[in-house]
Amino acid sequence: MAKFMVDNKTVEANEGITLLRACLENDIYIPNLCWIKGMADAPVSCRLCFVEIEGQPQPVSSCKIKVKDDMVVKTDGPSVRRLQKTAFQLLMSAHEINCKVCPANKKCELQKIARFLKTGLKPKRMEPHLKEASDSTSHPCLDLHVNRCVLCGRCIYTCIQKHDQALITFAKRGIDTIIRFYGASEALSATCSECLACVAICPVGAITLKSEK
Ligand code: SF4
Ligand code: SF4
Ligand code: FES
Repeated sequence: MAKFMVDNKTVEANEGITLLRACLENDIYIPNLCWIKGMADAPVSCRLCFVEIEGQPQPVSSCKIKVKDDMVVKTDGPSVRRLQKTAFQLLMSAHEINCKVCPANKKCELQKIARFLKTGLKPKRMEPHLKEASDSTSHPCLDLHVNRCVLCGRCIYTCIQKHDQALITFAKRGIDTIIRFYGASEALSATCSECLACVAICPVGAITLKSEK
């Protein structure tokens, strides 16, 4: 076991687990979107899980750091909050906010993070830049909503864990990156209708059953 301090509280956690996991399991919330428990390597793509560690010159991503004895961690300093708010606003500037018609409303991770950071969902000083690509409706039982997707990759990781290969993937590049299904409609129908793990793991309302909107 490693024993260390987080926000003046003593925390004990198994050696080898990430600092983000150790904090979450000890009721210390750090905003996060792209990490899932069990991942060997976090993609470090959402840039939300910053913390300060004594002795390190800059805040670091807690999903990338393994716990160590005697580390001293601060999760709520002003520089951490500034970085988290900027990352969140950037993410929200590419997100179509229409909670009233979204199946994720009231259980959405973005709403939870906005409440935690005491910031609104709508970025104040950033122009929206939504993608022009259309939503994907070709899957037999699921729809993908391009401008709700935060590109966290949780669905891809989960699909690989379940089926040894991803039936869902990122397509295009850079700011045009979107999520898409992979493969023929009949094969997807047989596999996905029994599974739906991607719907469950999506932190927002970007993958919906055809019966939902
Ligand atoms: S994904 Fe969350 S923030 Fe976005 S529209 Fe749906 S409920 Fe609102
Ligand atoms: S569809 Fe959902 S789980 Fe998949 S990358 Fe987009 S937001 Fe993440
Ligand atoms: S959870 Fe650490 S960068 Fe996304």
